[in-house]
Amino acid sequence: MSAADLLQAGGVVAFPTETVYGLGADAENDEAVRRIFSIKGRPVDHPLIVHLAEMSLINRWARAVPDSALRLAECFWPGPLTIVLQRSSRVSDLVTGGLDTVGIRVPAHPVAQALLREFGGGIAAPSANRFGRISPTRAEHVQEELGAAPDLILDGGNCQVGIESTIISLAAERPILLRPGGISIAELEEVLGDEIILLRQADPAQRSPGSHASHYAPQTPAFVVSMDELPTIFRCQVKAGYNVAILCFTETASEACSSLGCVLMPKDPDNYARVIYTILRLLDAADYDVILIEALPETEPWRAVRDRIQRAAQLHDKKRTSKGENYEKTTGRNFNGK
Ligand code: TXA
Ligand code: MG
Repeated sequence: MSAADLLQAGGVVAFPTETVYGLGADAENDEAVRRIFSIKGRPVDHPLIVHLAEMSLINRWARAVPDSALRLAECFWPGPLTIVLQRSSRVSDLVTGGLDTVGIRVPAHPVAQALLREFGGGIAAPSANRFGRISPTRAEHVQEELGAAPDLILDGGNCQVGIESTIISLAAERPILLRPGGISIAELEEVLGDEIILLRQADPAQRSPGSHASHYAPQTPAFVVSMDELPTIFRCQVKAGYNVAILCFTETASEACSSLGCVLMPKDPDNYARVIYTILRLLDAADYDVILIEALPETEPWRAVRDRIQRAAQLHDKKRTSKGENYEKTTGRNFNGK
């Protein structure tokens, strides 16, 4: 049976997109969509993005499609951009998490495109990882995360973008950035001719379920530390008997922390984004007690990667506090890395 036939029959298919792998089901089949939530262990009030083959299908899903949405779609679809719009009444509550909006994306990956074209309808798909974990950027990651739970995993190689899509809401009066990603605020603002509000500045009612601080986290405690602090904290941790992995961004930090577990990351945000989840996954699977991540530049091009790194470093699980407490003792900082 082809992947599209499986979807038609109510199956769940993991597929590559240019951002991360998605776990897809027919967005119009509630039973199939329910399976996505159960496979991921995801709370049902977290809405799913509806993936379409092309922009012309949007009216079936969105009630009102403002001119601004058409302009963004024209420029950035197919691509790593999700647009949140007022939903049409035919979209299932299960897909929207009960919200009156729906997130829509037209992915560019050729395998996703072929699947969407053959299937014809909308594919509801979150990232193909267990809830709260790092998104998969290779088919093997999906297999590691979900085992045999999906009916099929399509292998499309490494995801080129490497982190999830930019999400912009055009459902309210002002455009709101719900999640930074591969398409920058500046690029969006240029097309919109309007200023975009950041999520934290927006009315809490507009906030996106699923924008938890602790999303995208490895299981190993991770901390973001500045270049200046890194060598001292590293030495304290080693002295305390910990097996420490370090993601360095500068050569200075990398030279100061010579260690087998020291990874020198790419110097530009696009390449950093492309490899970050694979590297976090490898470090997580290895026997490290702590991951120290060198803080990234506070500049606009780094916004999306900085966002994911901050989330990776948030403790969302009390189980992690024992190592966190020790980190506190040896560094004098609290275990959220603040
Ligand atoms: O790159 C991506 O966006 C990937 C690929 C597979 O397309 N998908 C993805 O889906 O990252 P997911 O479910 O892991 O993250 C989507 C985020 C969630 O935080 C969800 O709450 C938010 O988008 N979202 C979806 N629909 C929304 C809506 N109507 N309003 C606000 N937030 C929404
Ligand atoms: Mg996700």
